[in-house]
Amino acid sequence: MTTPRIAFIGAGNMAASLIGGLRAQGVDADAIRASDHGAEQRAKIAAEHGIETFASNAEAIQGADVIVLAVKPQVMKDVCLELAAHIEDGQLIVSIAAGITSASLEHWLGPRPVVRCMPNTPALLRQGVSGLYANARVSAAQRQRAEQLLGAVGLALWLDEERLIDAVTAVSGSGPAYFFLLIEAMTAAGEKLGLPRATAEQLCLHTALGAARMAVASDVDAAELRRRVTSPAGTTEAAIKTFQAGGFEALVENALNAAARRSAELAEQLGQ
Ligand SMILES: NC(=O)c1ccc[n+]([C@@H]2O[C@H](COP(=O)([O-])OP(=O)(O)OC[C@H]3O[C@@H](n4cnc5c(N)ncnc54)[C@H](OP(=O)(O)O)[C@@H]3O)[C@@H](O)[C@H]2O)c1
Repeated sequence: MTTPRIAFIGAGNMAASLIGGLRAQGVDADAIRASDHGAEQRAKIAAEHGIETFASNAEAIQGADVIVLAVKPQVMKDVCLELAAHIEDGQLIVSIAAGITSASLEHWLGPRPVVRCMPNTPALLRQGVSGLYANARVSAAQRQRAEQLLGAVGLALWLDEERLIDAVTAVSGSGPAYFFLLIEAMTAAGEKLGLPRATAEQLCLHTALGAARMAVASDVDAAELRRRVTSPAGTTEAAIKTFQAGGFEALVENALNAAARRSAELAEQLGQ
């Protein structure tokens, strides 16, 4: 497969991460361009990555194989309506905007091959995870291009049904904040147990990092890892029993259901 030419519409944080990831994978700067209505954003991304930038979105997409829509969801409709007349046959549309369905994109852009992605914030450190959904117009080669793109900032996982994007949003899209909340709560509790705040914080951060690395590297699931570190009548068991007595699992399920419901509601509103 020849190197696809990729045009980014919106040169903000996510576009910069994706471009950085692609460049780190060895993609040539000549194959990447970006447009943004802000001169400062354009200058910044051009200086950082050596790519060509455009003030005009329509100009940026000329001759591109892949068009990455990386603007905020609230401006997506206007951006698409402006681009619709300029899109060429065969160009793949990749949207990373939260809450914008492939049907809305096709409504604004006309029938197009569309890949809708839900990345998460650690993509900014190339440690993200994304759910990807391709509509029926996307070819096998285009799927591979979308996977390479999102794979440049972390793990990319395909979904068979678009409605599962709401579940991905609930699990991994909003997920970093759940871990931040746990880190916050554990830090506060550690401080109450007498640790200096900075020490409690470092203990929590590095425990989260170590546990995640251990779980990722392990060939057994998290439940088994937990059992292995929970000896009968030990300290971990005392804590886990307290979590469970407080309804921890049900609380997590309720929280994720609330996020998924909100994701569906937002998609409904943004698609108008
Ligand atoms: N950041 C994340 O962790 C994350 C995670 C999942 C999904 N996403 C999705 O990724 C998308 C981009 O997020 P981001 O954090 O990268 O946002 P961002 O930093 O605000 O980047 C968007 C860029 O697009 C520019 N822009 C706005 N209107 C434009 C237009 N009409 N034409 C060209 N450029 C325009 C913005 O300029 P101004 O600032 O001047 O308006 C900004 O530079 C969003 O849809 C978001 O839902 C982000």
